[in-house]
Amino acid sequence: MTALDIELQSVTKSYGALPVVRDLSLSVPRGEFLSILGPSGCGKTTTLNMIAGFATPSSGDIRIRGKSQVRVSPEHRNIGLVFQNYALFPHMTVAENVGFGLKMRKVAKDEIADRITDALDSVHLSGFADRYPRELSGGQQQRVALARAIAPRPSVLLLDEPLSNLDLKLREAMRIELKEIQAALGMTFVYVTHDQEEAMAMSDRIVVMWGGEIAQEGRPGDIYRHPKSRFVADFIGRSNLFAFSQSRLAGTGTEVLLKQAGLALISAQRQQLVGEGFVCIRPESIRIVSDAPAGAEPVNALTGRLGRIVDLGAQLELSVEIAPDLSILLVQASSEHGRLPAIGDVLQLSISAEDVRLLPG
Ligand SMILES: Nc1ncnc2c1ncn2[C@@H]1O[C@H](COP(=O)(O)OP(=O)(O)O)[C@@H](O)[C@H]1O
Ligand SMILES: [Mg+2]
Repeated sequence: MTALDIELQSVTKSYGALPVVRDLSLSVPRGEFLSILGPSGCGKTTTLNMIAGFATPSSGDIRIRGKSQVRVSPEHRNIGLVFQNYALFPHMTVAENVGFGLKMRKVAKDEIADRITDALDSVHLSGFADRYPRELSGGQQQRVALARAIAPRPSVLLLDEPLSNLDLKLREAMRIELKEIQAALGMTFVYVTHDQEEAMAMSDRIVVMWGGEIAQEGRPGDIYRHPKSRFVADFIGRSNLFAFSQSRLAGTGTEVLLKQAGLALISAQRQQLVGEGFVCIRPESIRIVSDAPAGAEPVNALTGRLGRIVDLGAQLELSVEIAPDLSILLVQASSEHGRLPAIGDVLQLSISAEDVRLLPG
């Protein structure tokens, strides 16, 4: 069995009468990169603050390496922190910034020097020890903040939206770098973000939060392919979400009747939902029929007029009106097209039953 670094057991946090984190249970195995992902205000920072010890749970328990932390002060929790505002000391060199916490803890001088070297090595800033923060780029400053957090060799590192102040290119580069640093250190990371691409790119596992609760947890690809609710389908990636009014078991799957236009769709999921619900169809899973592989699984055939086309270079986004006031979004790799379809063209679409996900209403 994998050793657990962090356990949250039915943790609730209320401010006044209002619970902002509700009955949250979560286990993080040692060495995992876990992301807590959700929209602003869903309780991510509050959850992280409780793990760090800056906020006390109203009820429930938090354990680190098996030991209850409720009565342990933040400085005794052996946790590293990296926040959005990394706040390096401007009058201290990189090395002094990284060693600051160790000096406060009265670690021996030689030991501090070794750990500064190791930490700067880990974040690929070996040659920068004597620079001042103002002599570094934003990305380098953030890596110094990371080095400062890992220098005391904490058992876990908590990161709260650490990349949100960086511009897009740098943010994308830092995602990969952070993941590589984490893997090299073998350290448990709990990473908070509202950015689903960021969470998808870095995490071993994602916990999606909504309204103080866990909406879904799992590996990034699994959550994307098998969202359990309308919220998750909408929040993670893009999707076509259509309401249906009825469902019935049909063949090996389920047939649903869309509210709009009375279109029927077949889902491979065998699950008769009582009353209304939603189907989720990812834009890249829809094919224009001439592209459909021969002898494919049972498919849903739809016909519609192309209403909009956006050429993004690598990708095409097409909006096809499959019924009055009902458009479906398709994303296709540009290279698949010799000739771009024109607005007004009638297109035959097919969707594999496997790609029609049923969601409760
Ligand atoms: N100290 C506090 N007092 C009262 N309400 C708070 C406090 N901290 C956070 N909240 C509320 O708790 C909710 C969750 O906040 P937070 O955990 O910061 O969300 P997130 O990090 O996901 O954006 C928000 O509605 C916020 O206003
Ligand atoms: Mg926050």
